[in-house]
Parts: sequence; C-alpha cells; structure tokens
Amino acid sequence: MNLNWPLMENNITVEDLSILIDFLKTNPRLTQASNVLDFEKKWSEWLGVRYSVFVNSGASANLITMAAMKHLYGLGEIIVPTLTWVSDIASVLQNGFDPVFVDINPRNLCMNDRQVISKLTEKTKAVFITHVQGFNGLTDRLLRVLEEKNIPLIEDVCESHGATFQGKKLGAFGLISNFSFYFAHHMSTIEGGMVCTNDEKVFETFRMLRSHGMVRETTNKDIKEKYIQNHPDLSPDFIFAYPAYNVRNTEIGAVLGMSQLKRLDKNNIKRRKNFELFIKNLDPQKYRTDFDLEGSCNYAFNLVLKKADIKFRDIVEKAMQNAGVEFRRGSSGGGNQLRQPYLKGIIPEKEFEKYPEIEHIHFFGYYIGNSPDLDKQKILDFCKLLNEV
Ligand SMILES: Cc1ncc(COP(=O)(O)O)c(C=O)c1O
Repeated sequence: MNLNWPLMENNITVEDLSILIDFLKTNPRLTQASNVLDFEKKWSEWLGVRYSVFVNSGASANLITMAAMKHLYGLGEIIVPTLTWVSDIASVLQNGFDPVFVDINPRNLCMNDRQVISKLTEKTKAVFITHVQGFNGLTDRLLRVLEEKNIPLIEDVCESHGATFQGKKLGAFGLISNFSFYFAHHMSTIEGGMVCTNDEKVFETFRMLRSHGMVRETTNKDIKEKYIQNHPDLSPDFIFAYPAYNVRNTEIGAVLGMSQLKRLDKNNIKRRKNFELFIKNLDPQKYRTDFDLEGSCNYAFNLVLKKADIKFRDIVEKAMQNAGVEFRRGSSGGGNQLRQPYLKGIIPEKEFEKYPEIEHIHFFGYYIGNSPDLDKQKILDFCKLLNEV
C-alpha cells in the first residue's frame, strides 16, 4: 500500500496566487505598507485582541516577545516547556533570561500546569506556554494562579491557530501571543509570524522592536514627542530606542495572509474532523488515544506508542516508510529540548532524565501531516495499517 502522504502540503492555492498577481499588476510598493496594516487589523479581529504586529517568522515573533519582556519588565526566570520549538527557548536565552523547564501533560503535550505552578518564584517574569500541535494547554487553575500572582502569560500559538479554551481563541488569553505562518501551518504567508497583545505599551514596543528599535515606528504621539524632547541632538527620524532588529514582513505576505485568513476557519473544521477520525480508529492497546481534544485544532496527527518498546517502534517506522507516510519522531520540535546541544553548559548534565513524560514522546511520539483535504479513506487505511503492525 502506498499512501503517498507528505508531512506538509502547500496550502497556498491558485486563488491566493491570482489575488496576489492582481495586486502585483498594480506595480505597488512591496515593502511593509497599507496591506500589512490591513492584515494586522483583520488578524486582531479574527483573534479577538486589540493589536497585532506582522513579522517575518514565528521565531521572530518569539524573539521580539522576549526582547519586549526584557525592556518592559526586566530580567529573571521564564517558565518554558520541554516540548516546543527551539526558538521559544533560544529567544529566552538570547535576551538574557533564565529558562526554567517543566515536563508535559501527556494528554495535550503542553506544559503540566501543576509543575508550572510549583516552579513559580519571586524571580519568575513570565510563563511562556506553547500550545503544542493544536492542543490547548490552558487550565482554569493555571490562569487563576497567574492572575493571583500577577505573572504574565505568554502564549506561543504557532502550531494552534483557531484552537480554543472555553470557547475563546488561544492567543487571546495572555499578555502576548505568537503565531507562525510558515509553509503548511494552519495558514501560510510563505514565511511570517504575528505578535498580538491587548496592551498598548507592549504593542508600541513591538512596533519599534520590529524596525531597528526606531522611535518613528510608534503610533503613539506622546512616546514620540518624549523621545524627541529628551534627545534634541538627534534627528527626530533617527532615534533608536532599543538595540533591536529588522523583522518586518512584506506586502506580499500580507496579501497572501488576508486571502488565507478567509479560509482558515473552514479548513480548521476539516483538520479537526480528520484528527478525530484518526484517533477514533487507532488501536488503544498500541497507541495513546486519550488526548484531550476539547477546543483542539491540529495541523498534525499525533501518533504516540503506548509502550516504550524500541522493537515495536522500529516496526512502526518501517511500516510508515513502506507506505509512503512521512513522519517526524519526537513530535514538534524534535522532542525533549533538554537533550539538544545548544543547551550544553546551560543546564546540568543529564537534566533531561528528570522529565519522563517528554522523554516518552522524544523516543515514541510522532507527528504526521494533517492537511484539510486529506481523504477519509486514506486516514482509515493508515489506521488499519498501524493497528496491524
Ligand atoms: C511552537 C513554535 N514556535 C515557533 C516556531 C517558529 O516559527 P517559524 O518557523 O515561522 O519561525 C515554530 C515553528 O513552526 C513552532 O512550532
């Protein structure tokens, strides 16, 4: 059986491209301009937040998020997951924070909320949660404790556009949220990302951090005036408030983003149904099927072997390879971040051993592509194949 099932399918359609071509025919300016602003406005409306800032990747969203946290709230500890993308941890380190790791909840692959709470200290500056592969990682308990302790929540929603907690979209809960629009995510702008917030000060800081730290990027006249008055020796057009970056996106990305956004909710319904069908038809003796699907919206299928059995793992991998099903072991981001060489010397040796839940995913968890147009029969055939190995 050849299922011909790639990990990622191009989700930029001919319709998106023809809208882009019509736009290009007007010989427009292509660097960040009015379409970027329109996309940011539409994205904010879709998500249910006040402000969004379009950047060139999800990793850049992570980077300027941590830079803003450093400039606005100062350095300290950031609670981070062991299962996430490298840029979530790298952004913490690059900005001089100390990452404090927690294990995952096997039912949603996100941070174990009790462990997060147990690791909060006087030094905690934020909890930087990742909603892993479409799962919601929030709980009432976590939100309540963070509110009581006045600790900001930052949500990485790069893998979970449209997923919800208690009916509200993920990314609308935290002080800041991050999205990625990379190829084959829930939607794509070729490369791209978004930082979102309801906080005006954070928003204005993002506007500056995105463009070299330039004060003229702020939309707030008072902020601008204050800098100009305090720096009479500087040209008002060239005041750099922060040692920052250029992580802007383009009009091309924004036009594609707005076209894609129109289809996002519809596609998400299809992805959700695909994943439910997959989980429902897997053999619960061999694979984990007890995921917490409430509010989830997965762009990938999670396949987690029930037992830590290397021999069985090899057979499953061979079967998927023979059937033309592309997969990634370690789930999103390659499994346990604590095993990665970039953390050598930063965390104690063998620290990874202390996190058994992510260790299981590291060796026995996979993700497989979930594109909206996946054929139902193909999903059933795949489950049959997995159940028979
Ligand atoms: C959780 C998470 N954060 C950040 C990123 C980085 O996004 P990008 O690839 O757009 O830089 C990714 C990558 O997909 C991700 O999965």
